[in-house]
Amino acid sequence: MANPKVAFYTLGCKVNQNETEALGALFKEHNYQVVDFDDVADVYVINTCTVTHLGDRKSRQIIRRAIHNNPQALIVVTGCYAQTSPGEVAKIPGVDLIIGTRDRARMVELVQEHQKGSAPESYVNDISKAQDFENLPVDRLINRTRAYLKVQEGCEQFCTYCIIPYARGPSRSRSVESALNEAGKLVEAGFKELILTGIHLGYYGKDLGGNIDLVYLCRELLAKTGIQRLRLSSIESTEISDELIDLMAEEPRFCPHLHIPLQSGDDDILKAMHRPYTTDDYRKIVEKLRTRIPDIGISADIMVGFPGEREENFAKSYAFVKEMGFMGLHVFKYSPRKGTPASEMTEQVSAQDKEKRSKEMLKLAEQGFRAFARKYIDKTMDVLVETTFPQGGWEGHTANFIRVVFPGETEKGAIVPVKLKKIVQNYVQGQLDKSRN
Ligand code: 5AD
Repeated sequence: MANPKVAFYTLGCKVNQNETEALGALFKEHNYQVVDFDDVADVYVINTCTVTHLGDRKSRQIIRRAIHNNPQALIVVTGCYAQTSPGEVAKIPGVDLIIGTRDRARMVELVQEHQKGSAPESYVNDISKAQDFENLPVDRLINRTRAYLKVQEGCEQFCTYCIIPYARGPSRSRSVESALNEAGKLVEAGFKELILTGIHLGYYGKDLGGNIDLVYLCRELLAKTGIQRLRLSSIESTEISDELIDLMAEEPRFCPHLHIPLQSGDDDILKAMHRPYTTDDYRKIVEKLRTRIPDIGISADIMVGFPGEREENFAKSYAFVKEMGFMGLHVFKYSPRKGTPASEMTEQVSAQDKEKRSKEMLKLAEQGFRAFARKYIDKTMDVLVETTFPQGGWEGHTANFIRVVFPGETEKGAIVPVKLKKIVQNYVQGQLDKSRN
């Protein structure tokens, strides 16, 4: 009999992407063949997102698409939406298995036990006291140049808008040994860049005891693996220590790029969000980073339309974001999440105002990227070649995270000198710098 076929779809964040890759590896170990999502597969796994209501909606759409692609297939729904709303997922006719954000190492086993046509089964359990870190290994066979390594799970911050602590449970960390082991294998398999991910990465190590923290882990990874680039996926402003800044300033392999969620540039709103800093604190960290690491690229998440955000609050937020000059900005329209304090606050902002404010922030995002990239025009930067560009040529990122597209002779996985020439939307066109070969 031919090998059974499995297809995956990932919604949402980098952590989800990493987990889907790990699940892919698990299925392959059990002799499944991984096929495209729109092919006819025997099993479809949808790794869902619930960070906003759009995550929920898109997750439901994709579940329906899988059922449409093959009504006979086994449909497995996992991830944050499955964890927080198993009842809603079970109501979609055709869903077979609902597995939240835990017990995923058992997924293949559960798939093999389940009879298509029987009632949907839910393996979602209480996550609020979870203590274990699920060591899912990343798929090393697929041809990628950058590997995400999840080293931390869960969040205990309970920002008033956020559902994620309920979807992911408390903070827990991968052991240093396990992270080193996994990273070593990824390097051996040819990955050039390692991106550390987590739900609340700055919390890394708090549950491990001793002096183990994120900086310790980074030092170990740099010292004990041959990784050529190390990057952090996201870190809170309050968790950027002097040690981290020193390491980033002194270690050429540590990419000078940080994604530092801001959420609002207005102090009253930050307080209502239960964010543990003021705009002044945030500004100080950014100034320190830029002084110590002049080439650093700083990006952020920003939310518009949090309850109580009036025009004057938004104006302050806008002015602060402009002042910070982020090279990248993810703009979120506030979405009330059931069970979170902010969803019950009075003074919810209208959809039109959210839309308008989001558009204004998106303009700042574009301006910020241009202003940052402009500094590097006519300069030669090292670019990690990640994929082919749809319109021809190659694309990749500089260490400080400028997306670069260029033509010429090279190959995936190489780190090559590229002269940056012209800003096009959200990337820069360049050409191989032969004088530096
Ligand atoms: N509504 C809109 N955006 C949200 N985020 C988290 N919760 C919500 C919500 N309820 C955004 C934050 C966070 C990012 C991952 O998602 O900006 O940093």
